[in-house]
Amino acid sequence: MQPDPQRYTVTAALPYANGPVHIGHLAGVYLPADIYVRYLRAAGRDVKFICGSDEHGVPITIRAQKEGVTPQQIVDKYHAIIRNSFADFGVSFDIYSRTSSQTHSEVASGFFKKLHEEGKFIEQTSQQYYDEKAEQFLADRYIVGTCPNCGNDNAYGDQCEKCGSSLSPTELISPRSMLSGNQPVLRETKHWYLPLDQYEPWLREWIVEGHKADWKANVYGQCKSWIDQGLQPRAVTRDLDWGVPVPVAGAEGKVLYVWFDAPIGYISATKDLLPDTWETYWKDSGTKLVHFIGKDNIVFHCIIFPAMLKAHGDYILPDNVPANEFLNLEGDKISTSRNWAVWLHEYLQDFPGKADVLRYVLCANAPENKDNDFTWKDFQARNNNELVANLGNFVNRAVVLTHKFFDGKVPAINGELQPIDQEVLIQLAEFPQRIGELIDAYRFRDALHELMNLTRAGNKYLAETEPWKLIKTDEARTGTVLHVALQLAAGLVTLMEPFLPVSAAKLGDMLHLEKGSWQTAGRPDALSTGQQIGAAALLFDKIEDATVEAQVQKLLDTKKANELANATVAPTKEDISFDDFGRMDLRVGTVIAAEKVAKTKKLLKLTVDTGLDQRTIVSGIAEHFIPEALIGQQVLVLLNLAPREIKGIQSQGMLLLAENADGSLHLMQPGQAVLPGSHVA
Ligand code: 2FM
Ligand code: ZN
Repeated sequence: MQPDPQRYTVTAALPYANGPVHIGHLAGVYLPADIYVRYLRAAGRDVKFICGSDEHGVPITIRAQKEGVTPQQIVDKYHAIIRNSFADFGVSFDIYSRTSSQTHSEVASGFFKKLHEEGKFIEQTSQQYYDEKAEQFLADRYIVGTCPNCGNDNAYGDQCEKCGSSLSPTELISPRSMLSGNQPVLRETKHWYLPLDQYEPWLREWIVEGHKADWKANVYGQCKSWIDQGLQPRAVTRDLDWGVPVPVAGAEGKVLYVWFDAPIGYISATKDLLPDTWETYWKDSGTKLVHFIGKDNIVFHCIIFPAMLKAHGDYILPDNVPANEFLNLEGDKISTSRNWAVWLHEYLQDFPGKADVLRYVLCANAPENKDNDFTWKDFQARNNNELVANLGNFVNRAVVLTHKFFDGKVPAINGELQPIDQEVLIQLAEFPQRIGELIDAYRFRDALHELMNLTRAGNKYLAETEPWKLIKTDEARTGTVLHVALQLAAGLVTLMEPFLPVSAAKLGDMLHLEKGSWQTAGRPDALSTGQQIGAAALLFDKIEDATVEAQVQKLLDTKKANELANATVAPTKEDISFDDFGRMDLRVGTVIAAEKVAKTKKLLKLTVDTGLDQRTIVSGIAEHFIPEALIGQQVLVLLNLAPREIKGIQSQGMLLLAENADGSLHLMQPGQAVLPGSHVA
């Protein structure tokens, strides 16, 4: 057993202030971090929960360019949106800072300077793409060109999003600058590098040997594989005009690489929070440092930032980095650019007052060890079957019956406790430690599951003792049962608080009880006999089918909009001569009858008045049109297509249709009614 740390510094990845936050962020990083911190606070620990916006780097400048505003305007806008979303979901940071702050600039510069002065960097010149028109070097994301692997014309300088391959800008065929559209040229530029290779033996010892047992398998595995592949010096500066300027002579026009400055943001935020005592939270070996992040940040938090801290020499290292995998949405990867996400601020517009429900569902289904899927059906089922039918139902029955039979006063225990009472009280006594140990081990799903086992035990207790019937024959015993049930409900005020803070407070109001300490949450005397409790209020309510169906429809609409936006137009066919065209007899006709062809899914048999005759045309459009709706419609018809027999029917001609990018078919029609038989040319 390790001794308890004297204090905790808990960080949650600084989100880029280039867009709002979604359920993937909450499930992967901020919710587990918040549960952990709330639990530590309840357990009386000294803990600081640190976060803020990551406001530098190319993600910000690209967004600014897209929205046609300055990077400062972008970070101001999204910093506020993100900060409010976190507050609305009860993410209880001690500080939510930002890396554009003065303190951060000083701390990050100071950090760089110390390493620079102590010769911890190496300086190297290399050839990088430069846009002569925009007069600046281009970050990898600012260069597009043809992917050498799949031919995609819009591959980025660091990655082709079509085939997924990692690229370097010089691999792109026909590179062009996103700033000017011009072809960039290679130019020499100097940068500072952190020689990660020199830290490799130390990293191997610290992680591969030191943290095999206590880091999550996904985190450990990724680190080991990076180290096994061999580490390379890593540039910590960039040619960019947005960021913390490199604080040494001869570095004009250069800023710190965003992944150098962002993690230092944890330190500067702590300094903003505690100007006098911040150092204890970063330099004292009695402090346990824990970074909550998503899996795409593992290398930065487990290898690069620790190497920076080690190079600096004054700082403690993370004790653990419990990174999560990714959350998908309805079977598809969450994507900001495709708007495939449930945005936190939009969720609260659609589900006001239901922040806890989303917290619950995201924790119950958290991507702790593998990618997981969020579906609206699962959201509804967990709300209705678990929160309403299990937790809410237990609390509600205990409170309502106390009012009904005992005027809302905690009844006394009468006589000896029976084994069934003792059993449920023993469970109550055991759960704080059981849930706490799981949270300590970063197993938040399991911890929540245990919490629900406690309420399940409460429901079972009520179902077996049946106080609603018992009251008719034995009021004294009914009092004992409700006393026990209420003590269980009282324990929940503290035990459910890390997961469901709003509902826990509501329950506390109902029972006239403040949340207590974790250690005493299992005691059977939180409520005293005779104590008045408040009126019953529902903690959760049912979510109807129509509500979640509307959410699914919203996603389907997004998918359709994306398909249309990304549709590629087929290239033109080979040239034909005017004579070739002239040989086609294209006319306007009027549909006078339409019916489905029996035993087929796709075929309709149409009778078309062509002005010359009334002929049959079989067309594969049954899935797109209701036959009756076609009758009377004018259509364009290719009359002289050689007749063909389709399903035993002679088809004499072809209907002209436009196929939209989403696969829907639309009739080609004259703009206004014309005589059947009119030529189309
Ligand atoms: O991936 C991201 O969203 C980064 N902005 C995380 C930075 S975490 C830390 F280093 F600041
Ligand atoms: Zn490609």
